[in-house]
Amino acid sequence: MKSSEFKKRRKRLLQQLGVGNIALLASADHCVRNRDVHYPFRQDSDFFYLTGFNEPDALAVFVPGREQGEYLLFCREFDPTKALWEGAHAGLQGATRDYAADQAFPITEMDTILPSLLEDKSKVFYPMGRDAELDRKVQAWISTVRGKSRTGVVAPNEVAALERIVHEMRLFKSPEEIKLLRRAAEVSAAGHNKAMQVCKAGLYEYQIEAELTYHFNGEGLRAMAYPAIVAGGENACTLHYTDNGSKLKHGDLLLIDAGGECNHYAADITRTFPVSGRFSEPQRLLYQLVLDAQLAAIAQIKPGATWIEPHETAVAVLTQGLVNLGLLKGRVKKLIKDEKYKAFYMHRTGHWLGMDVHDVGDYKIAQQWRVFEPGMVLTVEPGLYIPSDCKKVDGQWCGIGIRIEDDVLVTADGCEVLTAAAAKSVDAIEALMEAS
Ligand code: GLY
Ligand code: MN
Ligand code: MN
Repeated sequence: MKSSEFKKRRKRLLQQLGVGNIALLASADHCVRNRDVHYPFRQDSDFFYLTGFNEPDALAVFVPGREQGEYLLFCREFDPTKALWEGAHAGLQGATRDYAADQAFPITEMDTILPSLLEDKSKVFYPMGRDAELDRKVQAWISTVRGKSRTGVVAPNEVAALERIVHEMRLFKSPEEIKLLRRAAEVSAAGHNKAMQVCKAGLYEYQIEAELTYHFNGEGLRAMAYPAIVAGGENACTLHYTDNGSKLKHGDLLLIDAGGECNHYAADITRTFPVSGRFSEPQRLLYQLVLDAQLAAIAQIKPGATWIEPHETAVAVLTQGLVNLGLLKGRVKKLIKDEKYKAFYMHRTGHWLGMDVHDVGDYKIAQQWRVFEPGMVLTVEPGLYIPSDCKKVDGQWCGIGIRIEDDVLVTADGCEVLTAAAAKSVDAIEALMEAS
């Protein structure tokens, strides 16, 4: 991502903050996995969105209209020993030279400098309640300023959620962001096709997960956007199954929910296919129903439509189909009103997608469902889950879990499915698996 993109974002943020106010945003921590070992570092998405700075122990400060500089970065000082052991880090020079901070300060001096930056500001924007340590520090800095009130200094009298501004910005993806989402989507779609090609009974779920990891990493997507779900047979009925430790059985379906992350932008794809390459009759009927629901939901996505329409469409198609197949009995309208479909479809049809897999952005404005606009990206992921011990339906349906999930960009006149390259129709899946 070009540094001009980050600059543009900061400019928009500064405009919205308004002169006389200040915003603070902390980096992610480098979390310990065990003893001297850390988890791979993943920057906080808001922080990266505004700074492009990929280190822990940093605090970005935005002060609109400040003469000595509006964008300040507190970060680690350059340490040659640290560089020897752990590799490059920006230091103060790098923060200004490479990340365009107007001023950089050592993170160790934060408590000394911050109170003076808060003097005479009205409002402090920061992510309230997200990081207990930052909450405590902001309170402490404000009280330090209050302590100087007799000298004529005025302390901020309001704190506000920085997310309100930043998340609204992040909801609308720029062409640069769409490029990264597209790359994440394309590589991840190819990974799903690969998984279909190598799948066979007797393999373990983690061996299929290994194929996905190998493919994503080999294409430069160095992290999964979320832990992969590789769920054979009835494991697919556990919505957030991540154990991935069972052996795949002939005759079962395999549900894979996995996506790679490309420079902090996520893909989120689910495909469900037969372990041995051919759907049984009940599997095919349920699969086709979920696919019909998904295609109908996607067809609703266009500027002017509201967030809830794809979900309501999916629910209507699924409920009608469940009645047709005999899994639900009664009038479709009443079954929907009484939410009877929730016995088999208990989650929503999608979420915003971006730097975070469950991305930021309000779903309602003034209690009304949000209207789609170009540049928004969302998932569409209906499913059906019929546990093996389900007593309400004929045994032929039991132990089947199906979800089909694509990533969809709202365009000027409709939408584009970014993950369309992953095989999806019954015929496409069976043909791909047969050919391998
Ligand atoms: N992979 C998480 C989700 O589909 O929401
Ligand atoms: Mn999803
Ligand atoms: Mn998913």
